[in-house]
Amino acid sequence: MTYFEQMKEKTALLKKNDDVLVLALESSCDETSAAVVRNGREVLSNIIASQIDIHKAYGGVVPEIASRKHVDVINEVVEQALDQASIDKKNLDAIAVTFGPGLVGALLVGVSAAKALAFGLSLPLIGVHHIEGHISANYIEYPDLEPPFICLVVSGGHTQIIHVTNYGQYEVIGRTRDDAAGEAYDKVARVLGLGYPGGPAVDCAAKKGNPQAVDFPRVKLKDNPYDFSFSGLKTAVINHLHNLEQKGEAYITEDIAASFQEAVVDVLVEKTMNVAHELGQKKIVMAGGVAANSALRMRMNLETNKRGIKLYYPSPILCTDNGAMIGSAGYYRLMQGEISPLTLNAVPYIELKS
Ligand code: KG4
Ligand code: ZN
Repeated sequence: MTYFEQMKEKTALLKKNDDVLVLALESSCDETSAAVVRNGREVLSNIIASQIDIHKAYGGVVPEIASRKHVDVINEVVEQALDQASIDKKNLDAIAVTFGPGLVGALLVGVSAAKALAFGLSLPLIGVHHIEGHISANYIEYPDLEPPFICLVVSGGHTQIIHVTNYGQYEVIGRTRDDAAGEAYDKVARVLGLGYPGGPAVDCAAKKGNPQAVDFPRVKLKDNPYDFSFSGLKTAVINHLHNLEQKGEAYITEDIAASFQEAVVDVLVEKTMNVAHELGQKKIVMAGGVAANSALRMRMNLETNKRGIKLYYPSPILCTDNGAMIGSAGYYRLMQGEISPLTLNAVPYIELKS
């Protein structure tokens, strides 16, 4: 029997276990994380080693540095996750890992470590799509949350409205045609001199600014009203600043931040509400780094309350990249018998599939 066949048999037997313990690894960008998750919902540990301070000096993530740093810390992060969970490696049931999308060199570190652990411990390996992880962070935050629901995914690389019809089943209703929301935040932060990471800096500056100061464009796409486009908005902010600079006029950074954010939030909230209305869905979930944005949370709360829709979003630590969300997503794949072969590879670009 091949290793994969043995693991398939092992996986089938797991359904009879009361407790299924998944060790999960995440290294798709600038966080090295490992977590132990019980039954997809209970986090026993979630260690996150952030590289933000290293990349700050460059104004963004430097892929080669990210990969090297992951290599430096991954074993230590895994050990800490097991220690903090008080779990012996021998008691684990499976190893989950983000295999894509993300920076290929960074992903490879997590994937290689996970493969070594799975093979060495004779455990099933589960490759998890990064966005499935972000969505699943909500299963940890809300133990009673079950599909179906509408999910607004807003991260550094993705902006999508997804109808989550069941565990692991997704219908993408709308997506960005160009920049992701987080990417737009990071670029605007850079031109405003707010540094990296841009999202939290813009969020913070915007609190002190006037969101009506500048009327930045809200792009509507005719062929799919649920798709997004943020590159025009980013260019509008840059052009606005250049015009003022050329005229020698000063501007208030906080006002620009607040006006940009208002445009982003308007578009994200309106489209999500329209999808929920069209599908008659009364549950809306948010996922990804931008789901931590205070203005987005506030407006979403307001609009869902008006419509009698229940809103879910993870606490800030579960919004950003972390191993626990991968452990939750991995658990549901595992329970469906969907494990990966040891030939699993890092994939930098890959759509979320059912
Ligand atoms: O989900 P995430 O941690 O990584 C990816 O999968 O991309 O998202 C990171 C993105 C970055 O663009 C960051 O600037 C943005 O999320 N972000 C925020 C906030 N916190 C993080 N954007 C707006 N407001 C925030 N408070
Ligand atoms: Zn992410």
